[in-house]
Amino acid sequence: MANFQTVEVNSDVLILGGGMAACGAAVEAAYWAKKNNLKVVLVDKAAMDRSGAVAMGLSAINQYVGVKDGQNTIHNYVDYVRNDLMGITREDLVANIARHVDSSVHLFEKWGLPIWKDEKGAYVHEGRWQLMINGESYKVIVSEAAKNAIGAENVYERVFIVDPLVEGDRCVGAVGFSTRENKFYVFKAKAVIAAMGGAVHVFKPRSAGEGLGRSWYPPFNSGASAYFTIKAGAEMTCQEVRFIPVRFKDAYGPVGAWFLLFKSRATNGQGENYMETRKSELENWKPYGQVKPVPANLRNWLMMLDVKDGKGPILMRTEEAIANLSKAVPDEKERKKKLRELESEAWEDFLDMTISQAILWAAQNIAPEEKPSEIAACEPYFIGSHSGASGAWVSGPEDIAPKEYFWGYANMCTVKGLFAAGDASGASSHKFSSGSHAEGRICAKAAVKYAVENPTMPNIDNAKIEALRTTILAPVDMFEQFKKASSDPDINPNYMKPKMFMFRLQKIMDEYAGGVSTAFTTSKPLLERGLELLAFLKEDSTKLAAESLHELMRCWENVHRMWQAEAHIRTILFREETRWPGYYFRADFPAMKDDWKVFANCKWDPKTGNWEMMKRNILSIY
Ligand code: FAD
Ligand code: ADX
Repeated sequence: MANFQTVEVNSDVLILGGGMAACGAAVEAAYWAKKNNLKVVLVDKAAMDRSGAVAMGLSAINQYVGVKDGQNTIHNYVDYVRNDLMGITREDLVANIARHVDSSVHLFEKWGLPIWKDEKGAYVHEGRWQLMINGESYKVIVSEAAKNAIGAENVYERVFIVDPLVEGDRCVGAVGFSTRENKFYVFKAKAVIAAMGGAVHVFKPRSAGEGLGRSWYPPFNSGASAYFTIKAGAEMTCQEVRFIPVRFKDAYGPVGAWFLLFKSRATNGQGENYMETRKSELENWKPYGQVKPVPANLRNWLMMLDVKDGKGPILMRTEEAIANLSKAVPDEKERKKKLRELESEAWEDFLDMTISQAILWAAQNIAPEEKPSEIAACEPYFIGSHSGASGAWVSGPEDIAPKEYFWGYANMCTVKGLFAAGDASGASSHKFSSGSHAEGRICAKAAVKYAVENPTMPNIDNAKIEALRTTILAPVDMFEQFKKASSDPDINPNYMKPKMFMFRLQKIMDEYAGGVSTAFTTSKPLLERGLELLAFLKEDSTKLAAESLHELMRCWENVHRMWQAEAHIRTILFREETRWPGYYFRADFPAMKDDWKVFANCKWDPKTGNWEMMKRNILSIY
């Protein structure tokens, strides 16, 4: 048996993850915990200062409603999100985040985040909802505030959370292990917040060899939130709503600043703008094809149709956009100054959040003012906080949620004591970094209330913890037992290393669940075959072997991904229509259907191991 020390940590509120939502949760939980004399603990698999999707920094805050500035209303934001998600959204959750998000943004500024201002002192907008920032150190700033709030001694970094602890109908903690020391951790708590981000590398990435690991979504987030809530028995929602971003090709640089701030066009290899030449296609996706802005998946779809017709490469016309903006300045000297400003803003956009794209520009001799750059649709990701929607089905806030959407505590899952925020909570897209922080705060306030109102901790069965320990550390024993059976540690008749396991998962998803190589297209027979192959993979997961603590983490990351994959396939299969054609296309049900204007939810039963699929009504609050 692997020689690991067991460490037990007790708290009232346990925050899992150290990203934007978790940092928001920490700040808010600390405030309410102090009033109630409670202990708050946070666990991150990485170092919080640079963990999660904001690790590299960002160049914009994508959700700022500006209610006080008189720019927009909460209702406007809800309309925007609902339309972008083709009608499938929890308006109560979106409105709740929207009414709190501006205060998170003001906190970021107070903590030292530089937000661009114009000559009059007003925020510089990228688009209607987005603010420009000098965001290279965004995560460091937000994380420092979170650590200060709960105390560094309550932050456990480099501890990988694997499974939930559930007693009866209540989640009472989590178990995991250190990625640096031989320690198995048992965290017991009265309320648990899952905020471990979304998932990448479930699907085969475009860059498979030379750039393996490079993707738009950060490789550190590997489906832990979805796995955790599914395994706890929580109902999940929108598991079919993956996100396919269109990004600068191969290094995944962001496009928002180009489309919104620089007013750039994207054209095909023949110089045509697919948003114009393919406009009539939008008629097929009414009423959402008619709204402004055109929903992200439909923008993708028009581009994909050009690619299918062999009209690539698709180009972001940076040279044209820069020329247009500088041309508008009449004075020649001022025009030259403007040109230099635009060039440096273009580079900074990448240097703030996707440094590798700036490196690729340099490597390929691309000066954005001279030459366009290729853009392409990425492989699918699970990111409920952006333009996807997958996550746990959570309670809305008491004051605005319809009755059916409220079960006691805001953002609580259908399992008692378990809360979710950011990428971990579903059907509330477009929260981005700022909205995830705000949702973390909403969630933490409710979690503290739950801990105060449910002060008695259920007794946790030690045998259950021991069984989890044995399963979680099994890959270490597997390696030790069989390592001598071959001369190469990666190749062995008795076990499988996590990398091979990941390749197998990615191949199944790519070929059967609508990945890049099948042009995001799938159908019932393909999905059913995918499920069959996933079942074999699941069987083989007991043969995973880990040579080091790092590989032990890799083993569990891939098990997490596998569960996210299964929830995804089952839900695409369940929804017999195509609603987000630029995210995935059901070749056997190629159109949108009115009777599918519902949430497709699913639940795994920890007692029987069976999945239940269900429809939930969409209830509007406006
Ligand atoms: P994250 O911030 O990703 O945090 C997840 C946390 O969970 C991390 O701390 C991670 O280490 C931890 N974790 C994961 N697994 C485990 C585990 N097993 N055990 C313990 N801890 C674990 N938003 C904007 O506002 N503006 C932008 O310009 C912008 N650009 C983006 C660019 C990219 C490339 C991406 C991917 C996202 C971008 N976003 C942007 C969106 C924003 O980053 C996310 O909405 C936000 O980070 C989501 O917050 P979260 O807390 O749910 O997840
Ligand atoms: S980011 O996450 O990497 O920053 P991205 O750069 O695509 O995303 O977009 C930033 C913001 O701009 C998001 O709110 C996105 O929805 C929006 N956006 C991007 N492209 C467009 C477009 N063509 N039309 C409208 N909104 C867009």
